[in-house]
Amino acid sequence: MRSSTLTWASSLCLLSALTSLTSPVLAVKEHDFKKCDQSGFCKRNRAYADSAAATGSSWTSPYNILPESASIKDGQFQAVILKTINDKGETVRLPITVSFTQAGVARVTVDEERRQNKDIELRHNSAARKERYNEAEKLVIVGGLELDKTAKAVGEDSTSSTTVQYGPDGQFEAYIQYSPFSVEFKRDGATEIKFNDRGLLNMEHWRPKVDAPEPKEGEEAVSPPAEEATWWEETFGGNTDTKPRGPESIGLDISFVGYNHVFGIPSHAGPLSLKETRGGDGNYNEPYRMYNLDVFEYILDSPMTLYGSIPFMQAHRQDSTVGVFWLNAAETWVDITKQKIKGNPLALGAGATTNTNTHWISESGLLDVFVFLGPTTQDILQKYGELTGYTALPQESAIGYHQCRWNYVSDDDVKDVDRKMDKYGIPYDVIWLDIEYTNEKKYFTWDADKFSDPSGMGERLDEHGRKLVVIIDPHIKNAPDYDVVSQLKSKDFGVKNKDGGIFDGWCWPGSSHWIDAFNPKAVDWWKSLFKYDAFKGTAENTFIWNDMNEPSVFNGPETTMPKDNLHHGGWEHRDVHNLNGMTFHNATHLALLSRKTGELRRPFVLTRAFFAGSQRLGAMWTGDNQASWDHLAASIPMLLSQGIAGFPFSGADVGGFFGNPDKELQTRWFQAGAFYPFFRGHAHIDSRRREPYLAGEPYTTIITSALRLRYSLLPAYYTAFHRAHVAGEPIIKPLFYTHPNAEAGFAIDDQFFVGNTGLLVKPVLEEGKDTADMFIPDHEVYYDYFDYSVVPTQAGKRTNMPAPLDTIPLLMRGGHIFPRRDQPRRSSQLMKYDDYTLVVTLPREGGHAEGSLYVDDGDSFDYEKGQYIHQAFVLDGNTITSSSAELERDASKVKAGAWLSAMADVHVDKIVVVGAPSEWAGQTEVSVTSGGKTWTAPIDYTPASGGRAAFAVIRHVGTAVGSDWEVTVV
Ligand code: GLC
Repeated sequence: MRSSTLTWASSLCLLSALTSLTSPVLAVKEHDFKKCDQSGFCKRNRAYADSAAATGSSWTSPYNILPESASIKDGQFQAVILKTINDKGETVRLPITVSFTQAGVARVTVDEERRQNKDIELRHNSAARKERYNEAEKLVIVGGLELDKTAKAVGEDSTSSTTVQYGPDGQFEAYIQYSPFSVEFKRDGATEIKFNDRGLLNMEHWRPKVDAPEPKEGEEAVSPPAEEATWWEETFGGNTDTKPRGPESIGLDISFVGYNHVFGIPSHAGPLSLKETRGGDGNYNEPYRMYNLDVFEYILDSPMTLYGSIPFMQAHRQDSTVGVFWLNAAETWVDITKQKIKGNPLALGAGATTNTNTHWISESGLLDVFVFLGPTTQDILQKYGELTGYTALPQESAIGYHQCRWNYVSDDDVKDVDRKMDKYGIPYDVIWLDIEYTNEKKYFTWDADKFSDPSGMGERLDEHGRKLVVIIDPHIKNAPDYDVVSQLKSKDFGVKNKDGGIFDGWCWPGSSHWIDAFNPKAVDWWKSLFKYDAFKGTAENTFIWNDMNEPSVFNGPETTMPKDNLHHGGWEHRDVHNLNGMTFHNATHLALLSRKTGELRRPFVLTRAFFAGSQRLGAMWTGDNQASWDHLAASIPMLLSQGIAGFPFSGADVGGFFGNPDKELQTRWFQAGAFYPFFRGHAHIDSRRREPYLAGEPYTTIITSALRLRYSLLPAYYTAFHRAHVAGEPIIKPLFYTHPNAEAGFAIDDQFFVGNTGLLVKPVLEEGKDTADMFIPDHEVYYDYFDYSVVPTQAGKRTNMPAPLDTIPLLMRGGHIFPRRDQPRRSSQLMKYDDYTLVVTLPREGGHAEGSLYVDDGDSFDYEKGQYIHQAFVLDGNTITSSSAELERDASKVKAGAWLSAMADVHVDKIVVVGAPSEWAGQTEVSVTSGGKTWTAPIDYTPASGGRAAFAVIRHVGTAVGSDWEVTVV
C-alpha cells in the first residue's frame, strides 16, 4: 500500500506484500472506486437519458417555464420552471435566473423553491441544512459578475419564449424556450450551445420519505421500485451513506453544435481531447467522474476520478471555441457522445462536421452553469479567470527545480543533498520534507532526534537562496499529548460526523480528526499555528505542502469522508466534497500570508486536491504516479488539460512516485519535467535514492543540462506566469490553443508551446527512442533550439527529428523573441541580477518578430506597487527595439525601490538573431540608442551552412533591461 510506516493495522499484511515492490506493476484497485452504476444518482440519471433516447422524438421534458413568471430586468431573466412530478399534474417550482455579465458570460441558475421543503423531515439528524447547497459561489467566484444592464429581450413579444441579446456589440443571444424548457446560445446568429435539447434536465426535487407499509402477517414486504433503491440510503464497499435529504441530484444535457472536440474537466489520466463515454470502439464505457479522491497508483487512459476537479469544459472546432463552467462541488459525472451532422455541415462553419453532446450529473446542490461563447480559447480563459481568479504570481524560486522524496531523513541528510547538488553543479531551488520529519505524524512538530536543528538547516539553505518546503496535512492526530488536537477539539473546529460528534477516521497518524476549513474561525486558528513562534524551526524560507486534502481517509468510503459528515453551516460533506481541498489550501495560503505582521513574501503552497479557483492559491501536482514510461507520457496531456482549465501551475512527480525508474527513464523524465510549469522530483519511501547526481554518467550530465536549460529559460517561464496571472493564459499551450484552425493538431497532446516564446517541445516519452516525430502546425520556419538548423517542415505534417538521449526535441518558431539568462548558477535567487540574452528568430517572411519580458523581485508583493519591468521587444527589418509592454504605464513615474534600483545595472547583454538576414553579413558593429545616448556594440555574423541557418550574435549591448532602447544593425 502506501508506506512501511503505516500503522493502520488492518492493512499490515497487504502492506508487507506491497512494500517490497520495486517495479511499478501495481494498478489501482478499480473496484475500490465507484462506477456510475454503483453511484445511485449517476445510475438514475443515465437511466433517465436511456429512456429519453429509447422514447425518441416523443420524449417530452417535464420542465416548463410558467410564462407569466418570466421577466427580464437589469441584465437578468427570471422565471419559475414548473416540474411536473406525476400523472396528476402536480408540480414543483424551480426558480430560474439567467444572468448576463458585462464580459458577455451568461449564467443559468436553477434552485428549488424552499416552501416546498419546509415540511420535509430530515432523517437521521436535524443538523443538516434544509436547502440546496448555494455557497459554492462564495468560495469560488471572485469577480466578473457585474451584470450587463443593456442585455435586452429582442424579437416579437411571445408567451412561449424570450430571446435575450447580450455580450460585446450584442453579438450573443440566448433563446429561452418555455415549453419544454430549453436554452440555445448563439453567436452572430448561429447556435453554438444548447441546454436541455435532448430533454435530460432532471432536478430530483426534495420529498418526504414515505415508509412502505409494514407487511401484514404472512405477507412479504414490498420492496421499493428499483429506481428508488438508492434514494434514502446507499452502501458501497461496506460503508453506508445515510441520506437524510433523500434524492436531490441534478442532470442536464449540454450540446455543442458543430464541435468535434471537447477539452478540460481535469483531472483525469487520459487524452487531452476527451473521449466518448458510452461505449464503441476506443471509447470509454463510463462517464468522466469528478469526485476528489486519493486514487493511488492510478490507471491510465481512464475517465476515473483523481485528486482534483475543475468542472470547466471547452469545445473547439476550426477557429471557434466555446465553453461551460458547471459550478457544483458535489460528486459529478459527465457523459460525452458525438454525433455526425447530417445534411450540409458547412452551414455551421469550416470543420463543423460533428455535434458533441454532453450530459452533466451532480449529486446535490444548485444547477449553476456559466456559458462562454468565445470565439477564442484565450478569450474564454480570460473570462473564466475574471470569475474564478487568475494564477497567483509565484515566487520565482517556485518555478525552479524542487528536490523532494519521502523522506529526507534528517537535517544532516538535507544538508548533504544540498552540498552534493552544489558539488555536481546541479541547480535547484527548493528541498522538501515529507511526513517523516514530524514527531509521530503530528504536524507542526519535528522529530527531534533526526531534526535537532531545523533553524540551522533553514539558514544553511538560505545561504544559496534556497527554500525548504515541509508537508502539513489536514488530518490531525488524535493523541493525548498533542496540543494542536486538543485545541481543535476544544474550539470545536473539526469536521463532524452525521450525529454531530467530531469525526474520527484513519490517516497517516492513525486515528485523526480533520480541520473544517469551511469555518472561517477554524481558518483563523489555523493561521495562528504557522506563526514563526508557534511553528518553531520554520523561517521565512519555509513553505508548505498540503497533501491528502481530498480528504484522504483510509477507512472511509472510497478512501474519503462519509458524505453524511457535516461541515460548518450544517452543510453535508456530500454538498461540498470537491471544495474541501481548496478550503484547506486556502487556509494554509492565508496562514503563510500572516506568519508575521506585514508579511512581505509571497506564499508557496502545493496542493493535491483542488477545485475551480485553486489557481489563486498555489501549485498542484498529479499525485502518486509510477516510474513507468506510460506514466511519463500521461503527464503531458494531464498538465495541458490543467492549463486550459485555468490552473496551469502544475507538475507531475519527476521520475515517478512509485517504483524505480531506470536511468534512461529518469533522464527522459527530467528532460520533460524541465518544461513542466511545476518541476519537482519526488519518490516513494520504498524507492531507491535517485537525486540527479546519483545517476552516474552520462546521465547526471544530461540531467544537469536539462536542469540548466530550465534555469536559463526561467525569464521566459516567469513571463509566461505573468500572462497566466493577468490573463489566465496557460504556461504550456496545446496546439488547438496556439493554432485554432489547424484541425490535424487539435487532438495532439504530446507536444506543446511554451508561453508566447514560440518554443515548441516534444519530450521523448518512449523507451529506446532516438527520434521524434514533431507535428508542425503551420507554414512558419522552425529552427532547432540547439544548433539553429532549419528543420525541414511541412504545415500540418510530422517531421522526424533526431533525439538521442542527450537531446530534447525543441524547436524555435520563426517570428518570436524570448529572454534567457545564460550564466549557470546554483539557484534562481543567485541569478537575480544576472544580465539577459534575447533570442530573436526570423520568420519565413517579413522580417518581423515579437516577444516580451516580465520581471519583478520574484519574492515580494512590491510588483503590485509598480516595482516591475515589463518590456516588449520587436524586430522590424534591421532594427530591434525594446519599449514598455504596457502603453498606459509610465515607468518613469515609478519611484524605484531597492530591487528596481539594482536592476538599473542589469543589462540585455547579448542578442542572438537566428536566421539573420544575409544583408547583415560583413557587419561588425551595430548602433545602440537608449536614454538619448548612442553607442556601438560588436556583431558577429555566421552565414548559413549545411542545414544550419545564418545567425548573428550582438554582444555587450549594454542597455538596462528595464529601459527603452533601439538596436540598428544596418
Ligand atoms: C501521498 C502523496 C505523496 C507523499 C505521501 C506521504 O501519497 O501523494 O506525494 O509522499 O503521501 O506523505
